[in-house]
Order: sequence, then structure tokens, then C-alpha cells
Amino acid sequence: MRTLTVNTSNQCYSIHIGRGTYQMLPRLMKEVGVEKDRKLMVITDSSVAPLYGQSLQASLRAEGYQVGMTVFPAGEESKNLSVVERVIGDCLQFGLDRSSVVLALGGGVVGDLAGFVAATYMRGIPFIQLPTTLLAHDSSVGGKVGVNHALGKNYIGAFHQPLMVVFDVDVLRSLPARQVHSGLAEVAKHALIWDVSFVEWLEAHAEELLALSPERLTEAIFRGCEVKSAVVSQDEKELGIRSILNYGHTIGHALEAVSGYRVYTHGEAVAIGMAGASRLSVRLLGAPGELVDRTEQLLRRLRLPIRYAENWPLPALLEAMKKDKKARGGQYTFVLSRKLGQVEMVRGIEEAEIVQTLKEISTQ
Ligand SMILES: NC(=O)c1ccc[n+]([C@@H]2O[C@H](COP(=O)([O-])OP(=O)(O)OC[C@H]3O[C@@H](n4cnc5c(N)ncnc54)[C@H](O)[C@@H]3O)[C@@H](O)[C@H]2O)c1
Ligand SMILES: [Zn+2]
Repeated sequence: MRTLTVNTSNQCYSIHIGRGTYQMLPRLMKEVGVEKDRKLMVITDSSVAPLYGQSLQASLRAEGYQVGMTVFPAGEESKNLSVVERVIGDCLQFGLDRSSVVLALGGGVVGDLAGFVAATYMRGIPFIQLPTTLLAHDSSVGGKVGVNHALGKNYIGAFHQPLMVVFDVDVLRSLPARQVHSGLAEVAKHALIWDVSFVEWLEAHAEELLALSPERLTEAIFRGCEVKSAVVSQDEKELGIRSILNYGHTIGHALEAVSGYRVYTHGEAVAIGMAGASRLSVRLLGAPGELVDRTEQLLRRLRLPIRYAENWPLPALLEAMKKDKKARGGQYTFVLSRKLGQVEMVRGIEEAEIVQTLKEISTQ
């Protein structure tokens, strides 16, 4: 098991990553002061509950904890206020009080929603993240929790740091391959924006990662969380440097939006976006051409797309990029790279440059 400590302004918490870590939960909870007299509530979704929820609840009960569980339908569509209200109703019925602890067992959707419930239930109770997707390594650091509004993703939310995060890499075995690849896109992003040696490590171990080697997954998650935590600790409330985490996301979000979130996984859209951002970086910042080759090669090795084949209307894509939450005053804003492992925010990019980039990453 590897442990990473995340420092935030008013709290510090541990991320434990490894095999069979759920069996260590009683000991780890004790370490953060959660004794058996505190009620626990597992919040999970309908896919994860039968795989890991029931067994987790049973094993914690066998240890003497009082554990409730509430399950909502799997999928991004559930990340909304009416599900929050239902889940809070279950928490009330189970008798959770201010000393109780929420266990968020699932992917990023569960982490965001259960974290938001914990942030708001009785003005805030502690929660422990038990991420079950690779992508959730990203959402387990940074303290952002929340749900979607009909008018946009993640418009309702809070900052609420977990008490700790416990990652069991064995649960990633049941993830559909496409979800594994999608999670690897955010891992690759963390390497590409921050750490050339991490890029090299990913290049060397891509095949083992795809084969779900527990040791390699542990290392990849550890290093991904390390980068995110380094960035976030400098900018908890997203006023400056944190925006570099949006590398590949301007085009990525636009592709997700124009396709109604039905064609690409988030990671696939971001991978295409990073291919685009690397190309834009060469043109606008004079980054070496090698940046594009290394980026695209790494993404391909991780079985991620670097081009889109659909004929999305250009005006819709451009409009989506202008509306991106990170854009200001209707200007196009991108996170671009001067060289491998180093990025910065660039504002006021000419539309013609973006149009040219979109042409390059489209196979139409
Ligand atoms: N808070 C943040 O900082 C942050 C960062 C990145 C992403 N997110 C959010 O994360 C969400 C996406 O997360 P995700 O990709 O994990 O999606 P997800 O939680 O919907 O999980 C994907 C699918 O896999 C299933 N699943 C989860 N674990 C499984 C396992 N071990 N075996 C088999 N199936 C499993 C889920 O039930 C779901 O159907 C988005 O809502 C996004 O906004 C938040
Ligand atoms: Zn992302």
C-alpha cells in the first residue's frame, strides 16, 4: 500500500492506494478518529452496490459498526438535486447525525454526489472517499463536490475535503475497458502538464497499465494524485494555477457538449482535446514539434482517440468553447504547453487558429 498526504489550508488527509485496502478500513478509520460508536452511511450507485457495496457493508457490520447503505441509479443523469434530496432522506431515516460519516463508494459521480450530501447534511459531516474508477483518482483530490443543473454540468457545488481516501486497485478489474482507458486520459493529463519523468514512466508501462497490473496501477494513481495535489494545494479555490488542470478540456468539453454527452467518454474527449492543445501550442507558443508526437503517441498507446470522426458543425463547437466556464468575456482561452511537462493559460486566442486546429484533429 502507498500513502500520499494531501495538505489543504485547514486540513490534511491521506490517500491510501493498494490491494485489499478495504480490509484495512477499520484500522485506517481508527487512525482518523472514527470509532465504532459513529454511524456510517455507504452512498453508492446501482452498478457498484452489488459488486462491492453489500460486501463492504457486511464486513463493516461484522466489525461492529452500524452501517446503512443508500443506492441510486448509476450514471451521470443521477448527479442532480432530486437524487441528493432522496439520499438525504435515507440518511435522516437511518438516523445519521453530525458525528456520522459518509462513505462514498463509487466513481466520480458517487464521489461528487455523496461528497455534496456530506457537505450539506446538517451543515456538513465528514466523508471518506472509496473511489472505484480510475478517473476518480482525479476527483478524490481537490475537495470539489457537487451536482449538475439542467442548464449545465457541475453548476451546484461546494468545497468539502474528505477525511481520507482509500483506493483498492483490485476493484478496477471489473471496470469496462472503455472506462479504464478514459481514466488513463486524466492520468496522462497529469503527467503531460507537470512531470516529464511521469510521461516517460507512462510510455514505458502503458501495456502493463492496460493489463491492470496492480503495482503499476498503484503507482499511476499515486503519481496522478501527487500532481493534482501539488497543483491544488497552490490554489484551493481555483483562482489561478489550478486552471492548468483543464489542459485538453476546452476542446474536450466542446466535443462532449455538441455530442450531447453520448458519443465520447470524458477521457476520450479530453484525449482528443490534448492532441488539439499540443498542436495549438506548437503554433502559438513555438513549442517543439516533438510535443505533438509524444502527446499523440502516449495517448494512442493508452488506447485513446486523438481525432474525431464525426462531422460536428464548426459554429457549435466554437460557441461551446466560448461558453466554457474557464473562458472570460467571450474570449477563447486555452491551457497550452511550452514544452512537455509544462503548461500555462493563454487568453485571447484567434478563432482562425482554433479552426485550423480543429481541422487537424478531425478526420472528416
Ligand atoms: N470533483 C472533481 O474534482 C471531479 C474531477 C473529475 C471528474 N469529476 C466527475 O466525475 C464524474 C465521472 O466519473 P467516472 O468516470 O468515475 O463516472 P461514474 O462514476 O459514472 O462511473 C462510470 C461507470 O462505471 C461504473 N463503475 C464504477 N466503478 C466500477 C467498478 N469498479 N466496476 C464496474 N463498474 C464500475 C459506474 O456505476 C458507472 O456506471 C463526472 O460527473 C465528473 O464531473 C469530478
Ligand atoms: Zn477531466
